[in-house]
Amino acid sequence: MRTPILAANWKMNLNRREAKNLVEDLLKVAFPVQQREVVLCPSFHLLTEVGGLIEGKANYGLGAQNVYWKESGAFTGELSPAMLRDCGCSHVIIGHSERRAYFHESDKDCFQKVEAALQNNLVPILCVGESLEQREAGKTKDVVLGQLQGALKGQSLSSGDKLVVAYEPIWAIGTGKTDTPEGAESTIAVLRQELGNLFGERIAQQVRLLYGGSVNAANVDALMAQPNIDGALVGGASLKADSFARIVNYQTQASLAN
Ligand code: PGA
Repeated sequence: MRTPILAANWKMNLNRREAKNLVEDLLKVAFPVQQREVVLCPSFHLLTEVGGLIEGKANYGLGAQNVYWKESGAFTGELSPAMLRDCGCSHVIIGHSERRAYFHESDKDCFQKVEAALQNNLVPILCVGESLEQREAGKTKDVVLGQLQGALKGQSLSSGDKLVVAYEPIWAIGTGKTDTPEGAESTIAVLRQELGNLFGERIAQQVRLLYGGSVNAANVDALMAQPNIDGALVGGASLKADSFARIVNYQTQASLAN
């Protein structure tokens, strides 16, 4: 069975004090840690701080929101996979639609970032997703399969638990609109099938496939009830302890402890 992952993408938000308060509140949450993984992805300046707060906490991981593929050298403003490891990272988000749109990241860039992450023992959380225009033109599956193949075809993957893929329809990110659970399941099932073509069925069954795009306390239960949805990548609702705690505790009665 695949352990669900609830990943928080804080994007370019929170200062050190706010981050500390949020993590401390989250750590009070009684959730069944054996059955879930929580990955916090703060901005670069918070990595060490957040890493320190979750150090030794079972089933908490630390993720960066970006990485460069070179090991070191004259690349002003970039961070290497080894630097992320040095900050305590276990995961890194690659190819988020905001990076593709605002920073012109291509599938080839994503390929190189995924390769570098894998070589450095960082789990890539590779993001794929279609725009509204592409969706309305009936191209959702073609678009996400193209992004998946572009970033993964030719990678060597020894085990499926070294990779996470997040399906995030662009029109659903930060808009309050979500794909239906059945719609998300159908796209994610196609992604898993393609992972089988790329890496074989055993590995495809191990890869955690997440849904992202306005996941919140009200819609998480139904999304997580789908057989191929193994977790969520959460933006806005991960910035508040109570809403993210509810998401982590999906389908249970648990809530923030006092
Ligand atoms: P959202 O962001 O939950 O605010 O829609 C998700 C994401 O961009 O990863």
